[in-house]
Amino acid sequence: MSNSLFRKKSLATILKDAKAGLLEGHETGGLHKVLTVRDLTAMGIAAVIGAGIFSTIGEASFHGGPGVSLLFIITAVTCGFSALCYAEFASRVPVSGSAYTYSYVTFGELAAWVIGWALILEYAIGNIAVAISWSGYFNNLLAGIGLPLPVWLSSNYDSATPEILAAAPRIAGIPVILNLPAFLIVFLVTWLAYVGIQESKRSANLMVALKILVIIFVIVLGFFYVNTDNWTPFMPNGFSGVLKGVSAVFFAYIGFDAISTTAEECANPQRDLPKGMIYSLVICTVLYILIAFVLTGMVPYSTLNVNDPLAFVFDMVNLKWVSYIISLSAVVATTSVLLVFQIGQPRIWMSMSRDGLLPKRFSKIHPRFKTPSFATIITGIIVGIPALFLNLTVVTDLTSIGTLFAFILVCGGVLLLPKEERTTEKRFRLPYINAQWIVPVLIVGMAFFFREEIGQKLSFAAGWEVWKHNIPFFIFVVVAILITFFSITKKLSLIPVLGLLSCFYLMTEIGLKNWIVFTIWLAAGLSIYFLYSYRNSKLATKTTQP
Ligand code: ALA
Repeated sequence: MSNSLFRKKSLATILKDAKAGLLEGHETGGLHKVLTVRDLTAMGIAAVIGAGIFSTIGEASFHGGPGVSLLFIITAVTCGFSALCYAEFASRVPVSGSAYTYSYVTFGELAAWVIGWALILEYAIGNIAVAISWSGYFNNLLAGIGLPLPVWLSSNYDSATPEILAAAPRIAGIPVILNLPAFLIVFLVTWLAYVGIQESKRSANLMVALKILVIIFVIVLGFFYVNTDNWTPFMPNGFSGVLKGVSAVFFAYIGFDAISTTAEECANPQRDLPKGMIYSLVICTVLYILIAFVLTGMVPYSTLNVNDPLAFVFDMVNLKWVSYIISLSAVVATTSVLLVFQIGQPRIWMSMSRDGLLPKRFSKIHPRFKTPSFATIITGIIVGIPALFLNLTVVTDLTSIGTLFAFILVCGGVLLLPKEERTTEKRFRLPYINAQWIVPVLIVGMAFFFREEIGQKLSFAAGWEVWKHNIPFFIFVVVAILITFFSITKKLSLIPVLGLLSCFYLMTEIGLKNWIVFTIWLAAGLSIYFLYSYRNSKLATKTTQP
């Protein structure tokens, strides 16, 4: 069993399957290879700009103050390393299927399963957060036209104020508090995904153009309302306050990787997919940093603990009409994010099912709509029901930790990719920079620079109750030492090493509670793997054949 645990699909098999139309995305039979760099960049932006910048950035700014802009830079650099690794994979394994397919080639089946399982956090659980954010802005709009929903129909238990609790009807003494709009939008988007909405390139590009225009409008108009006094102190709660926003800010960047699922529809995936990912990341980074400055410059950071910060700041400077424009575009922006992930999740399940890791039903194609109908309905249920009850922060944290984990595996996977013969083939190539000395110097430098913080984190002095929160950091230190060792001995490639370490570090900032939930999530996934997928895998059938 130990050997078969690491069974892999060979790259040659995957490419052959793709050619024969056996991989996901081929259900309509031969997709048109039409997507260009511009389309891919637009799709990346469609998936990235959403709940993060329109909602979760509020709480991050509340904790971090104007210094949150620094976090946007740090996170962008981290995502940049991962995007380059995704890009390398996308050009070496130019079939659709995201990190799941990539890890099947490098790490083998078990890791592929784990990553597929973690991607549920990015796609399905992430969409719960996006739906909650959508609902917040939708309610703003309803209130604006004088038709506000009752508060108990647009909130959740966790965030319910005494007034909401008092207003809620009771069933058997229990107050009923639901986020109905969040459920309804998931229902609608799932239906669109079910009947096979082919987001035409034009409408996707239009939505993206609208998002970017509104963000630029907010930046330019907001700039005139900036009071530079609000920018000092830059980090009112210190760097640790800034780091509290890690999961919220990282969440805002999630999505550029989703375009890797379209490899088979690209005119030239090996050249264009990497460009699309990097361009969308760069564009979003610039916009995000500017937004962070404008937001924290317009109002004191301490007022920003709201779920609709962009609309809120214009409310505060008495530009109510602007806040309605923002609410309207937030509704459009988050809908496009919802669509990308609600369409992406069933397709990942579909490829897992085709590999035998999930029941056949997950790859069943609707005879008329040509979509993975069962998987789409399950996605709708998994996203829609929790959206009724959960609060935004809980789901954002879980999504961010799961996605960071997936990024770590992608960076690690690039380190394991077999060396390639030199060819003249024109494609993106991750530049190799020898990590042998750079990584040890960086690690020692960081350790010296942050020696006090590290000392505190590793010290038992404050007792178990405090120390237990540093377990993730402790694990990070062990991993960092190991990676440094291998960088020296194996001359690893610098970019994936930095990607792996920076993603891991950001994961340590997401809190022990989320690590525990994430570990339980992984344990549940592994149980399913060993009880079902291991035996039903196509590779298992192949190995048992004479
Ligand atoms: N980055 C995406 C958003 O912020 C998930 O909605």
